[in-house]
Formats: sequence, structure tokens, C-alpha cells
Amino acid sequence: MIYTDIDLDKVDINGKEPVKEPERQYYFMAMCREWVREKEKEAGRPLTYITQTFGCQMNAKDSEKLAGILEKVGFHETDTEEADFVAYNTCTVRENANTRVYGRLGYLNSLKRKNPNMMIALCGCMMQEDAVVEKIRKSYRFVDIIFGTHNIFKLAELIYSRLTSKGMIIDIWKDTDQIVEDLPSERKFKFKAGVNIMYGCNNFCSYCIVPYVRGRERSRNPEDIIKEIKELTADGVVEIMLLGQNVNSYGKTLNNPISFAELLKEIEKIEGLKRIRFMTSHPKDLSDSLIEVMKASKKICSHLHLPVQSGSSNVLKIMNRRYTKEDYLSLVDRIKTAMPDISLTTDIIVGFPGETEEDFLETLEVVKKVRYDSAYTFLYSKRSGTPAAQMEDQVDEAVAKERFDRLLKVIQEISGELTARHEGEIKEVLVEEVNEQNNTLLTGRLSNNILVHFTGTPDMIGSLIPVKLTECKGFYYIGEVAY
Ligand code: 5AD
Ligand code: SF4
Repeated sequence: MIYTDIDLDKVDINGKEPVKEPERQYYFMAMCREWVREKEKEAGRPLTYITQTFGCQMNAKDSEKLAGILEKVGFHETDTEEADFVAYNTCTVRENANTRVYGRLGYLNSLKRKNPNMMIALCGCMMQEDAVVEKIRKSYRFVDIIFGTHNIFKLAELIYSRLTSKGMIIDIWKDTDQIVEDLPSERKFKFKAGVNIMYGCNNFCSYCIVPYVRGRERSRNPEDIIKEIKELTADGVVEIMLLGQNVNSYGKTLNNPISFAELLKEIEKIEGLKRIRFMTSHPKDLSDSLIEVMKASKKICSHLHLPVQSGSSNVLKIMNRRYTKEDYLSLVDRIKTAMPDISLTTDIIVGFPGETEEDFLETLEVVKKVRYDSAYTFLYSKRSGTPAAQMEDQVDEAVAKERFDRLLKVIQEISGELTARHEGEIKEVLVEEVNEQNNTLLTGRLSNNILVHFTGTPDMIGSLIPVKLTECKGFYYIGEVAY
């Protein structure tokens, strides 16, 4: 589903490449399309592509942009890596994300030996690290293109460079202030879409590599965001997820500053749009006016992801989170007073350098006080280049693991109780897909992000329908349509 309408037939490929974006990329897309057409004739079959996403929703969105360009160029999507073009969009937030990529590269090499025309592209956060690029350049010479997080939009140009030169193409930008609009994007679902509102992060939490690999905060102009959402709704989208590393500081660096709360009010007015989600919120920047806008809104979902990371003010200070346990709890209090039924979810890191048993008990205390609907828990992972990696009192692995298991138990208990609180009620569900395990069932999502499985027909996919939540099964519901 490509919603940005670009007519490559109108692009003059006989002249020189334009300097200005996005016209420059349209030119390279048209050039690559010629090549794909020729190769298809030679091979007597369509050329295929696959994008593999590691990591977060931001990366998932970037992969849709890659797919949009690849479709426009003439590749056809496939679900196997035995494809003519394979793109790995990588993550480096924790060490195991890197390990997974290296593990799979060996397999890609074996596929490329069978299909020498295959092109392998690596991009995303991991590629922003010098040591990674060096390692790939030396030990994974079969890789064709390496690029980073700042120049995703250049994919067609990079493919063209690879076609017209020998050897690996490496193009990594350290940072950028450029936001290229009006490029194609191929979205996974017809009825819901992610929309970037800002890129990068300025917070420098001491454990986190994101500010180093995604660069400084840059907000998109509100007009561009609204235009994109209007195009999406005209194309059948009813739910959007606004994406940013720290959505609460949206708009601060624009020439005409506007707050996230104000942006939400504008988005609320868009006709046809039914549901608005957003992530991620940094507690230090969550304003009372945002709480007010959320409370008054008919479209903003009843869910807030509010990463706490730790319940100990000491640890939070060393993490450079810039709030205390008390600040966080009082914020949660304000949110719950305004919206008593809201679902709160969070991220928690266990085993941050210097974390003592007492610190950890404070995390447990916060979890019990806030009562999260669910929480993503992570064992601290040392990321080189971040301040925390230099800290001396790294926590013993076994100790961290033991704390992690204790935390998980508490979270699961609370989560089970909370999820069940709507049993017997009728709630609106956005129908997403036919259930993977049982094709007589459909799977949909409540406003608070919980899944519901119920009997229905595929024509319901993409609509909002009332469903009676008959039985809670831990972290999801079984329901029945309630017209
Ligand atoms: N180790 C463990 N977890 C981390 N996160 C970010 N950096 C690290 C790290 N070095 C977690 C945080 C963040 C989530 C996306 O990933 O909890 O909110
Ligand atoms: Fe990382 Fe902190 Fe930025 Fe989130 S806010 S991306 S945890 S530095």
C-alpha cells in the first residue's frame, strides 16, 4: 500500500541527477526500475525482496519506507530470505540484538552463493557504530550496501551506486538535520499506520546508545504530519501510532514551536481518524496540558507507555533520567486522577551498575504502587560508548538474573489481575487479522492495547466493532461480537 503518489514515468532519466530531495531519489528510483525490468527479462521471473526488522517500532516504520522504495523500483515482496534483495534493519539497544544479526549473516552468505545476483543491505542503528562497520567490512565481504539511520531515504541511490561500481557501498552519516518528506512507504496494515513525528533523542540516559546512533532531536513540521495523516485516513487508515523517542518534547526545536499536546489537538480534528496512539513518553517532559488533552480526547487511546527504568531515585540519578521516584509517582497520580481507567505500561532495567538490593526493592515498590497493565523488563546490557559502560560497580550477572525473575513474577501477578478488570463488559475492538492459530477466530485490539480473540469473518478486518469480553485468559480476552 504505497500512499505517496510518485509517477516515475514522468521522471527524466536522460538528464543529470537532480541535487534537491526528494526529486533526486525519484530519479534514482527510476534508474533502478530500468535495471530491475532488464533483470526480470533476463531471469524470466519477477525480482523479489524482503526486509527484516530488528528492534523497535521506529525501525518497523523505517522498514516500511525501505519497502516503499523497493516496491516502487519494481521488486516484489516475498517472505523468505531466498530473495534477490535482502535488507536487515538492525537494532543495537542491547547486545543480544547485535549477536542475532551476526548469527544470521552466515546464513545469508550461503544463500548468496546460490544466487550471486542477490543483494544484501544492512542498515539501522547497529550500522551507526564504527566497530560494527569495520567488522562487516573485514569479515562479511559479501554484504553489498551498508547505510545507517539518517539516510534510509537514499536507498535507491545506494542501490544504483552498487550497480555502477565494484565492491561494498558504505554510507553512514554521523548526524543530520535533514528530514526528507514525500517518499513512498509500504505499510503492513491497511487500517493502521505508524507516523514519525520526530527523530533522534537529546536525553542521553547513561545506559542508552540511542542518542549516539539516532542523533539529535528533530521534529517534523506539524503541517507535514497532518498532511500525512490525512492521506492515510483517505486511504483507509483509522488508527495511527505517533512515533518518537521522546514524543513529549515534540516541537520544541521547530522555528514555530508547538507542543505535543497542541499537535494532538490538531490531529484529533482529522475526519475519518478513529484512534490515536503514541510512544514513547519520557516522564520528565509529560505536561499537565497533555494529561488534559488526553482526558478530553475522544480518539486518544486509553493507554500510556511511561518508562520508569528504575524505582530508586539514586539509580535514576545515575541513569540521568532527571526525575525521582517521588516525581514519577506523583505524575502517575495525576494521570490516574484524570483518567482512572487508563492502562499504564512501562520499561524497567534490572542490574544497572551500582543497583543494590535496596534499590531493587524500591523498583518492586513502584511496580506495586503504580500497578502496570504490563511491563517490558530488560537485563542491563553494557553498550560501549555510553557513560554507564565505564561505571565500576557492574552488577553480577547471577544477581541481576535473580532480581529479574523476582520482578517478572510481581509484574505478571498484577498484570493478570488488571487485565481481567473488563471481563463481562462490551468494548470497541479494532479488528486486525485472522487469528494465526485458529482461522475461525479474528484478533482485535482494545483501546488499552489488549488483544481479543472472537468468532467473525475476515470482512470485519479494519473495522471498529463492539465485542463482549466474555473471558480473560491472562493477558488476552476471548470475546463475542455484540451488535
Ligand atoms: N540495557 C538494557 N536495557 C536498555 N534499554 C535501553 N538501553 C538499555 C541497555 N543498555 C531499554 C530501556 C528502554 C528500552 C527501549 O530499552 O528500558 O526504555
Ligand atoms: Fe534512550 Fe533515554 Fe533517549 Fe529513551 S529517552 S532513547 S532511554 S536516551
